[in-house]
Amino acid sequence: MSANRITIAVDGYSSCGKSTLARALAQALDYLYIDTGAMYRAVTLYTLEQGIDPHDWNAVASLLPSIRIRFESAAGGPITLLNDRRVEDRIRNMDVSRNVSPIATIPAVRRKMVEQQREMGRAAGVVLDGRDIGTVVFPNAPVKLFLTADLEERVCRRQKQLEESGKEITALEIRRNLLERDYIDSTRSDSPLRKAHDAILIDNTNLTPIEQLAVCLAIVKARI
Ligand code: DC
Repeated sequence: MSANRITIAVDGYSSCGKSTLARALAQALDYLYIDTGAMYRAVTLYTLEQGIDPHDWNAVASLLPSIRIRFESAAGGPITLLNDRRVEDRIRNMDVSRNVSPIATIPAVRRKMVEQQREMGRAAGVVLDGRDIGTVVFPNAPVKLFLTADLEERVCRRQKQLEESGKEITALEIRRNLLERDYIDSTRSDSPLRKAHDAILIDNTNLTPIEQLAVCLAIVKARI
C-alpha cells in the first residue's frame, strides 16, 4: 500500500465526524492528517484577539501577513500553532465557533489557507478534512468522501466532545451554531460547501467510528 500513497479528501457539514474519520484514516494508513478547519479557526482567534470585527473583510485581510499557522505532531493527533503558540484547545471554544464561518467567507482568507493547504498536502499520503477539499483544494484527489449525519446525532456528539474538554454548552446553543455554520458555509459565494460530483456520500448517523473507518478504508483500498 505504501507504494501508492494518495490524497484523501473528507468534506461535509459541521460536526459530522470528519476529523474523527480523517484522523483515524491517517493513523491506519500512516498518512499525514491536515485539519483545515483548525486553520480557519486560528485566523478567527487571532482576529478576535486583535479586536477586529470578523465581518470587516478588509480589516481581517490586513491581519493575514501577521498570521502563521502550522501543525505540530503529538500523541493524540496534530496540535495547531498560531504564531508558535499552542491553540489547539482554545480554537474549539464557542467564541471562535460563533465567528469562524463569517471569517471563512472572506476570499483573501480562503486564498491564503488554500495555498498553504496545497503546499502541505503535496506530500505523498495525506488526508485533509474541511468543506472545499474535494471541490477546490484537491479537485483531483483519488478518494473523496462526503460525510453527513442527522442533526440531533451531530448535536449530541458535539456536546459530548465539548463536555469531555470541560466545556458546558447547551444543546440549544450547539444546534443553533451548527445550523448557522452549515447555512453560511453552504451559501457563501467563494467555494461554498458542496459535495463534489465524484465524492462518495457517507451517512454515519448509525455507524460507530470503528464501523465508519472500516467502510472508508475499504473504499480507499479499492482505489489504490
Ligand atoms: O471543521 P471545523 O468545524 O473545525 O471548521 C470550522 C469552520 O471553518 C467551518 O464552519 C467552515 C470553515 N471551513 C471552511 O470554510 N473550509 C474548510 N476547508 C474548513 C473549514
